[in-house]
Order: sequence, then structure tokens, then C-alpha cells
Amino acid sequence: MKVDILSDLHLDFYFKPHLTTSENIISFFESIFTNRGTQKIGDVLIVAGDIGHNNKQNIEVLKILQKKFYKHIICVLGNHDYYLIGSEAKYAFKNNSFLRIEDMQKRINQEENLHCLDGTVVTIDGVQFGGANSWYDGSYVKKYFPSLDNSDINLLWRENINDSNLIKGISWFDEIHTLEMKKLENIYKNCDVMITHVNPSFDEKHIDKKYHNSPINTFFTFDGSKFYKNGFIKYWVFGHTHDSIEYTMEDVNFLCNPLGYPYESNYGEGIIMKSFEI
Ligand SMILES: [Fe+2]
Repeated sequence: MKVDILSDLHLDFYFKPHLTTSENIISFFESIFTNRGTQKIGDVLIVAGDIGHNNKQNIEVLKILQKKFYKHIICVLGNHDYYLIGSEAKYAFKNNSFLRIEDMQKRINQEENLHCLDGTVVTIDGVQFGGANSWYDGSYVKKYFPSLDNSDINLLWRENINDSNLIKGISWFDEIHTLEMKKLENIYKNCDVMITHVNPSFDEKHIDKKYHNSPINTFFTFDGSKFYKNGFIKYWVFGHTHDSIEYTMEDVNFLCNPLGYPYESNYGEGIIMKSFEI
């Protein structure tokens, strides 16, 4: 099967609610999925997190994309999918980001041929796709800035990363990491394809050069070595960084293909779809 990959859709930056119509969604994404009409669309689409800030809009768009283009769409959620922005969202989810995540996962998983992985595996035509939202940890800082301790990292997080303000229900940068690693632990031996939102390598070789030598990288990476070294994973798809990244390590192919914000993607025109055959 041919698997297309994309992450970081940030849908609410592209479509105002009243313009979230089938026509607009299809014409925008058809151009991306076909690389401007030059290639065939795959069988399965992976969306590696950061779908958008509005659960209702997210599910509307995913349903339209699956019905029109793909046999299956497989997602995990990203840090932005935890965000509670505005009083309406805070009220609806009782100021608890985890309720927003649960709601989004439920909306996706109740649809036929849409899958939201949360420490779970879905098998499609014999291929096992596993995934979880995942989260960042302090590994990058421990390697490249060993004089900083966990309190320093938390201070950096509070001062530089919106997650610390817009995710309600956490007070420590790697609180969600602890929860998410248990989920990866449960599935990594049963995946041909692993999907996480965050880059599982904190080595600078696997981080875009323009970010090198900054402790902030720790909020974009985690140590996934246990999983890619000891599992049977052939492809690991991630997002979170808005740079297109590819690398190979321990016989695993790592791929990241973000749509990103409109100013980064030139409203989708600058995106080259990535795919693999499995
Ligand atoms: Fe993103």
C-alpha cells in the first residue's frame, strides 16, 4: 500500500469556520495530496498531530478528506490539540486540556476508516500502525547543556513555550511525557509503522541546522531510542517541528512532513507530499 504523510495541519489558520466547506477543503488538499496534479494519491494518510484548535472543525475536515481521498486516515494528536483558547473552549472542556484530547479522539474513532491512535495499534491490510501523541523530554538539554537542571528547563518552558499557558492541567514541561511513554512502551514491539507528534531523536544531526545550539530544542524532541532500537519498526512518522526532515537510523526510516502555518507553507503551495510503500 502507498502511505502518504503530513502533520501540523493547523486547520484553523487556513479555514475560517464559515469557509470550512467541502469545496474549499477538497480543492486546497487535492493540490497538496497530488503534488499539484503530478502524482497519484495514496491508500492511507497519516496525520502526525497538530490538527487544529477546534475539534468540530477538525473532525469535519478529516471526514471530508477520508471520504474524498483515502481508504483510511490515521492520526495522533499534537501539543496544539491540547490548547484551550478562548472562554468558550475553556468552558466546554472545564478548563482541562485532557478533556479536549479525549473528545477529539472519540470524535475521530467513532468514524469508520478514521483512526486516532493513543497507545493503540490499527492493522490495515496486514500492516500494523501504532502511535501515541508522545511528548518532549529533557534529553536534548542533558546532552548539549548539562549545566541546566530540570528546574532550569521548566523555567525555559514557561518563558518560551506557549504550551505552558495554553495547555490547562499541567505545571511541568515533561508531565505529559511520563504518560505518553507508557503508551509507546505498550505498542512498540507490535508496529511496522510508528506515529508520534514529537521527533524521537534529540541528536542535532536530526534537527534542522537553523535551530542548532539552542536549549529550546528539548521542547521539540525526546529520547525514543529504546523503541526504535528494540522494536520492529520500519517507518517512524512524526511532526511538531515545521521543517521537512528525513533520516535513517537502526534500519528505521524517520519522516516528518509538516504543512505548518500558512506563511510557512505559502498557503500549501510550498508543500511536497511524502509517501512510502509498505
Ligand atoms: Fe505544529
